[in-house]
Amino acid sequence: MPTHPHRGKFITLEGLDGCGKSTQLERLAAVLRADGFSVVTTREPGGTETGEKIRKLLLDTATSGLSPLSELALMFASRAQHIKEVIQPALAEGRIVLCDRFTDSSEAYQGGGRKLGSEAVLALHRILCGGLQPELTILMDSELAASVDRARRRNQARTAGSSSGESDENRFEHESRAFFERVRTAYLAIAAREPQRVVVVDARGTAEDTHKQIVEIVRRKLKLAAKTA
Ligand code: TYD
Repeated sequence: MPTHPHRGKFITLEGLDGCGKSTQLERLAAVLRADGFSVVTTREPGGTETGEKIRKLLLDTATSGLSPLSELALMFASRAQHIKEVIQPALAEGRIVLCDRFTDSSEAYQGGGRKLGSEAVLALHRILCGGLQPELTILMDSELAASVDRARRRNQARTAGSSSGESDENRFEHESRAFFERVRTAYLAIAAREPQRVVVVDARGTAEDTHKQIVEIVRRKLKLAAKTA
């Protein structure tokens, strides 16, 4: 029996910083809502009051000297709270949960990027998340340099608009190209290992092209034929 029996559908979006995940998540949510589904959109790290505090700590450039293992532990602290408070209750009510990043991000960024390896991440996932797996994960594969540049520009613009002393979300964007190469390689390895769950979408085209691909995959994989069509 699965550790987390539920009636809803858990769908996650993954990809490099700046690949356009958040936009795609909102557009997918709008389509599914128009189809008559009850949809919850959420994100990691964050998604709960406690999780958003952890997010601030994790993403703020002012957080210096955080060890890779501490970083991993904080990602999972946010996730465990998120599952308990938001994801699990919504799935139990039969809703669709669309989540911007989940454990695959930890495996790609901390496992690959920070070189902690997959084993530690998967062990924590078993213990702290009860092995909860998405029914479907969309991995948006994009041009590395273009996405990271986009994320940097966006976050710099946000920081410039806020008053000094406020926290920013730039800590990961300061990482090297080699770091993001490792993240991308780890993501593709997850997709190769779990082809039933993870579908890679080519996100190098226009946002509209990517959106169409994602909607098609979601409907096909989860047999979510429009209820109201
Ligand atoms: P996100 O808000 O999705 O940033 P972006 O919109 O730039 O993609 O995620 C914030 C950052 O947190 C991102 O750089 C990836 C990182 N992250 C991890 O390193 N491990 C994790 O487990 C998660 C959930 C995120």
